[in-house]
Amino acid sequence: MKISGRTRILGIFGHPIGHTLSPAMHNAAIEALGLDMVYIPFSVRPSRLKDAVEAIRGLDILGINITIPHKEVVIDLLDKLSEEARAIGAVNTIINSNGMLIGLNTDGQGYLRSLKGDAGFNPKGRDIVLVGAGGAARGILTALAGEGPASIIIANRTTSKAESLVDEFKVKFPDIDLRACALDTSELKDPLKTAALLINTTSLGMEGKGRLELPLEEMPGGAVVSDIVYKPLKTDFLKKAQDLGLVVHDGLGMLVQQGAISFKIWTGLDAPVDIMRNVVERALEEE
Ligand code: ATR
Repeated sequence: MKISGRTRILGIFGHPIGHTLSPAMHNAAIEALGLDMVYIPFSVRPSRLKDAVEAIRGLDILGINITIPHKEVVIDLLDKLSEEARAIGAVNTIINSNGMLIGLNTDGQGYLRSLKGDAGFNPKGRDIVLVGAGGAARGILTALAGEGPASIIIANRTTSKAESLVDEFKVKFPDIDLRACALDTSELKDPLKTAALLINTTSLGMEGKGRLELPLEEMPGGAVVSDIVYKPLKTDFLKKAQDLGLVVHDGLGMLVQQGAISFKIWTGLDAPVDIMRNVVERALEEE
């Protein structure tokens, strides 16, 4: 990698940051397109986030990704927000436009692009069951709702959080049949019988976390089972879906596509998604 006097800086703020795959993914894209840029991980403690955001201006950094635990709190430190970031209530991408810091969120659109491209699924008019009601769920829900599905059932351990999400999204999307329920096999049995898509937006299934146990055998043939977890790439939840002959969609595509959309925002160029996917896949295999 060559660093010149004109090299533009991209990066990611998070804490902890050591396990991020974004530098490998973006630097591979930068190299493939021969750009004079570099993507750097920055370990930013919550108490230093304000300083770090100010440094984007001070150092004339071109663009930054924001990850855990800063996605929500960073909003108040920015000059402008995209409509989507405002709707989601979280920012994962900042672009520095001549000192004006604009916050965007590419997670939901990244998920949608992967769902359509990798799983061949079009949400329009379909019945969807979404597990989780946290930040990731908000991003995915915002993107899916914009596609005009017939119904979305939000299932969450804390039912009241699912109910608040439903109340909020009902106002914005009155044509969608939105409902909340508990993350409970008996409540989900019937909805899963007619669901075309089931998505896990929680961390259940991730290495070191609990398992997500749902009655997947109720789902109709051809239904898609989707998981945003990518460590491991094939969660037990997806393995069970695969054994049942359902269509399986793992979290790698969302990771790559949210990065590709951020890359386009910063560079104006279409990202080399196949190269980015290969790099991330290899990094996951090596871990
Ligand atoms: P993120 O931004 O990654 O979505 P979050 O906002 O903390 O993280 O949300 C985590 C989601 O995973 C929530 O839906 C949470 O359920 P609760 O609202 O009931 O807390 C869900 N979750 C996390 N651990 C869980 C577990 N062990 N069992 C069931 N749901 C879990």
